[in-house]
Amino acid sequence: MPKRSYRILRSLVPNFMRNILKPVIQKFKLSREIKSEIERTKKFAFGLNKKNDIHNLFARLTFHSHALEKGLSNPNFRKGFGQRALMSLREAMTEYRNADFPLDEERFLSAIIVLQEYCKAHEYLPEYTSDIENFLKKFEITPPNLLVGAVEYQKETILENSKAMFSNLALNRISVRDYSPTEVDDTLIFDSIRIAMKSPSVCNRQSWRVHLIKDRDLLERTLTLQGGFDGNGTNLNKLLLVTVDLRYFSNFYERNQGYIDGGIFLMSLVYALTYNEVATCILNAMFNRKRDQEIRDLIGLEESEVMIGFIALGHYPDVFKAPASLRDSVDKCLKIH
Ligand SMILES: Cc1cc2nc3c(=O)[nH]c(=O)nc-3n(C[C@H](O)[C@H](O)[C@H](O)COP(=O)(O)O)c2cc1C
Repeated sequence: MPKRSYRILRSLVPNFMRNILKPVIQKFKLSREIKSEIERTKKFAFGLNKKNDIHNLFARLTFHSHALEKGLSNPNFRKGFGQRALMSLREAMTEYRNADFPLDEERFLSAIIVLQEYCKAHEYLPEYTSDIENFLKKFEITPPNLLVGAVEYQKETILENSKAMFSNLALNRISVRDYSPTEVDDTLIFDSIRIAMKSPSVCNRQSWRVHLIKDRDLLERTLTLQGGFDGNGTNLNKLLLVTVDLRYFSNFYERNQGYIDGGIFLMSLVYALTYNEVATCILNAMFNRKRDQEIRDLIGLEESEVMIGFIALGHYPDVFKAPASLRDSVDKCLKIH
């Protein structure tokens, strides 16, 4: 319908009718918007499509390499760990090569290196590494020297950088998954939240909320449901959950605004904690409806809240390992117009 006729028609509807119709129309629009999001996800998500493009495969290569880096950095190294990740990584690498994608891409080379690191960490014991070594032979690639695998860090260096320029803080922040026995004082957390609350948000609506979980039983049950911290969390005794409250957003076109504002806040909070010498690891809070409801019930979230992310925190151990988590170069991310 042309805009003008729509406006005329609208002016003929009495006010009380408009107020009744408005929420119905808004709900209809919401369903329509969500449908298009579903279609987009269906089209692009690597798990929903048989044929993966190079970006789908980059995602899979990094996803499975990262699982192996975590195992290589784990203080409780378990021989033969990560069988599922190994299999999935090899599948992704094979698909990548069969599709004739460039073998000099860093994400692909990183996958090769992480498999080499896996063999090295297992001292080339045939029962753990012969399959991998045979697999690697098929590629005949000698990768360049990239920082991939488990990297050792010194607490002193991290603390020095935390107090220096922002670029030092940002470029030296890492996800730390196991902590020293010293408990993090609540005041450091409160001060970090204060700093993070200076984050920008849409029309300064500040929809964010932070849940501080200290109760041992609640913390353990939450982590079990979260499911992404298995094998880590030594001396973890405080966990944060950042949420946003949907009541602060107006319309169907703001359906994702909470995730944007919440994400900005979450990152500010991680930087603020890093500045306050607290070690952190963001933990995923995107779940299916059933798991989402279980966590909501457990923590007692408002129905209007949506979860943005957990932050596991503690103090840095004196010396520890963490995944290198190599980043792409700027030209992979930047498009100049
Ligand atoms: C939204 C989000 C969810 C994450 N979830 C988990 C998780 O469930 N378990 C985990 O060990 N790390 C998790 N991480 C940490 C990432 O693995 C880590 O940030 C990434 O590999 C980059 O490494 P870095 O933080 O050390 O630079 C998550 C990070 C983000 C941003």
